[in-house]
Amino acid sequence: MLNPYSERAEWFEILSRELPDMKIQFWPDIDDPDSVEYAIFWTHDTEDLRRYPNLRAILATTAGVEQFAGGDYPDVPIVRMADATMADEMAAYAAHWVVHFHRKLHTYLDQQAAKVWRPIRATPTGSFPVGILGFGAIGRRIGECLAVLGYPVNAWTRTGGHEEGVTHYRGRDGLEEMVSASGAVINVLPHTPETRGLIDAGILERFTPGSIYISLGRGATTIESDLVSALDEGVLSAAVLDVTETEPLPADSPLWDHPRVRITPHTSGFTRAPTAAPLIAANIRRLQRGEPPFPLYDPRQGY
Ligand code: GLV
Repeated sequence: MLNPYSERAEWFEILSRELPDMKIQFWPDIDDPDSVEYAIFWTHDTEDLRRYPNLRAILATTAGVEQFAGGDYPDVPIVRMADATMADEMAAYAAHWVVHFHRKLHTYLDQQAAKVWRPIRATPTGSFPVGILGFGAIGRRIGECLAVLGYPVNAWTRTGGHEEGVTHYRGRDGLEEMVSASGAVINVLPHTPETRGLIDAGILERFTPGSIYISLGRGATTIESDLVSALDEGVLSAAVLDVTETEPLPADSPLWDHPRVRITPHTSGFTRAPTAAPLIAANIRRLQRGEPPFPLYDPRQGY
């Protein structure tokens, strides 16, 4: 049973091909609720899910799965989306903005408008560490891409890590140290009770003066009023927000008009049927064989 929010025909075609023995049905056109074993969606009415007594698993079309936290979902495994193509897109997005601000491309836009030819010597790339908040599949891919470009990579996670060539930080002290040791900070944290509002005035004041903040995980991890103050006080020289506390960003948000903020509408990476549907099909085949699907959502961790 399928409730994707876009590319419906492609989802149907790919899943029919990948799972030839299964009947693919689009919600709400389910003729026999007893026949539904798997539900594929981003969000779905929990009441409706009770109509399917033989439901065996929920397969989310999103990497972030905070929609399941505290919801009254049937007691079946919930599988997250871990699409390497989405991670690549997000890495390209993050790298774009790091390079844009590190190499002062924003200043050249102004100079071009004024017909000014004035080279600016940027900090050498090897002396411009980039910090990544959240170092799961997406954070690691962003780190790999930045490392290829020559940026030193710092990573902050709940539990620490050991990837070679990456400076790892953990815990509250580690977070303060990491942001103060980075020229740009990229936030790809999931939204959990622990990360909600994590980036607040207390953390923002630890950022290296003049650094850049790029947020593409979940808007709820950042206190936007504190972010605006940090920009106004010059702690941060720029912020790029692909995600915001409320989406769409309300028209009266000061972020829209802030001269040092760039907004994009939650588009740093897409769930695309050609790569996402085969991953979901592979997990359904695993479940059919009695093998564990992955990555499994862990309600205690919140991701
Ligand atoms: C999009 O935000 C996702 O979590 O996949």
